[in-house]
Amino acid sequence: MASSSQIAADPADVTSGFRGAMRRLASGVAIVVTRGDGALVGMAATSITSLTMDPPALLLCINQSAGIHPCLSSGCPITVNLLSRHQRDVSAAFGGAVPREKRFEVGRWENDGHGLPMLDGAQANLSCTIDSMMPFGTHSIVVARVEAVRLSESVEPLIYQDGAYL
Ligand SMILES: Cc1cc2nc3c(=O)[nH]c(=O)nc-3n(C[C@H](O)[C@H](O)[C@H](O)COP(=O)(O)O)c2cc1C
Repeated sequence: MASSSQIAADPADVTSGFRGAMRRLASGVAIVVTRGDGALVGMAATSITSLTMDPPALLLCINQSAGIHPCLSSGCPITVNLLSRHQRDVSAAFGGAVPREKRFEVGRWENDGHGLPMLDGAQANLSCTIDSMMPFGTHSIVVARVEAVRLSESVEPLIYQDGAYL
């Protein structure tokens, strides 16, 4: 059995313990895309969670300091592109390694038929409309209704854990 260490309930310890706990949580990586003032905006996110099947809906948590945040509101269309194992470069670019205006030069993007680009070779492309948003601390919780889905043939997701890709 793995050994464990106790962390006191001191707020500073809870924060560092929580960070350590989240580093142990393996998550799929997605690229969230929408259109800002005429320009496309996108960022990498692991905070994608299935919310309900009826209606098909997901939630994501977006830092209020992220470039995409001012472009998100109820009724706004977004695409959520679940990355494949071979798309680490796309994750890095949209995670901030590439300037915002050059990110869509990384990966192959095509029209989703609803006016937004979707990433070719992704595990799944979900075309969504934002239903509602709720601020919490530094982030906003975004509820999005899923309106169209395109799936890859194989299931080979890109997984992020402990600050690295599996
Ligand atoms: C693998 C990975 C997962 C991330 N997940 C999230 C997330 O769920 N929510 C979030 O607000 N930022 C997340 N980020 C950070 C943003 O992608 C990053 O800060 C990005 O640069 C924000 O976009 P901006 O540079 O246009 O502001 C993640 C970054 C990486 C590399």
